[in-house]
Amino acid sequence: MKLINIVVSWLLWAQLSLCFSQESIHLTELSHASDDFIIEVTDGDLSLIDGPRDYFTVLIFTSTDIAHGCQPCEEARDIISRVSKSWFADYAESNYLAFINIDLINKPNMNIFQVLGLQTIPHIWLIPPNHSVEYGNPYKILQEGHFDFRVPKANKDEQILAFAQFLSENTQRSILVRTEEPIAKFLKTFLLTLSFILLIKKKGPSIITSTRKKTVTAWFFIGLLLFCIGGYQFTIQQGVPFIARNDKGGIIFVSGGMSYQFGIEVFVSGANYAALAISLVSLVYIGQYKVTDTSVIKNDYVKTALILVNTGVQYLLVSCLTSLILRKDSNYPYPFTKLF
Ligand SMILES: *[C@@H]1O[C@H](CO)[C@@H](O)[C@H](O)[C@H]1NC(C)=O
Repeated sequence: MKLINIVVSWLLWAQLSLCFSQESIHLTELSHASDDFIIEVTDGDLSLIDGPRDYFTVLIFTSTDIAHGCQPCEEARDIISRVSKSWFADYAESNYLAFINIDLINKPNMNIFQVLGLQTIPHIWLIPPNHSVEYGNPYKILQEGHFDFRVPKANKDEQILAFAQFLSENTQRSILVRTEEPIAKFLKTFLLTLSFILLIKKKGPSIITSTRKKTVTAWFFIGLLLFCIGGYQFTIQQGVPFIARNDKGGIIFVSGGMSYQFGIEVFVSGANYAALAISLVSLVYIGQYKVTDTSVIKNDYVKTALILVNTGVQYLLVSCLTSLILRKDSNYPYPFTKLF
């Protein structure tokens, strides 16, 4: 059995790695060997991106030579390295994008600048894949069409986001920009939250201190679950705005378009699901309810009426959900009544 597993996984792996060119795999290795996943070019040698390319290339033309005193170059480097780290955190082995730095501190790199006739620094280019390049002329890539990224005049965080967005629009991959020190930030948030919870548990109002752990955990996870089905992860990854207004100034609670949503929609659909769950649980509860002389519901008619009302509510809530889906995909084949 083990042997089969090994053979199957080897075959899968072999197939997977066959999809990528040797060059792209080599570039990924080189990226991982660098602290910020940026490969340094030396001696004007671009042979590592020679030949057909199945990957995107970011070329950075810059100088850290003090004689050039290039402040914007330093800033550009900061921006790019934040984004390259974020890219490799998500797509470590995708072999799909390489960040390559051509720095004038290495004198022979001047060749590349001369070929291009570049007089100013820094420049940041994104060059798409090209499968029809022949081997043997590594400088050919410099003549190909490229996208130019100009660092916008804004604060550092906005510049980083702008570069991430530039890459993600052109490569069609979303990039989640990481904060500078993820572990430090995590620890800080964790400790703050923990001390806050402990404080409330010790000194908080009795309604909280007397609640059992099990109850708190249960509610916490129900909340988490609702967040997840509401598309929380999507809104975070896409960095969508929380709320938006339409032309008339009204708040948009449900956006159109299959693959988009605003932050507030997490709450809208979460609340819809929560209401559905509550209504279902109460339906089960009433269904099992024993009508006796001492019970709250004293009569079978009331019980039946409640069941009917609850069923109606269920219908409306499911309609609400399918109307929401209809707003995004008008061809959705299983709608209930269209409510909005
Ligand atoms: C791809 O490379 C070939 C050969 O070098 C070139 O003729 C062609 O213009 C390149 N394509 C793009 C989009 O630059």
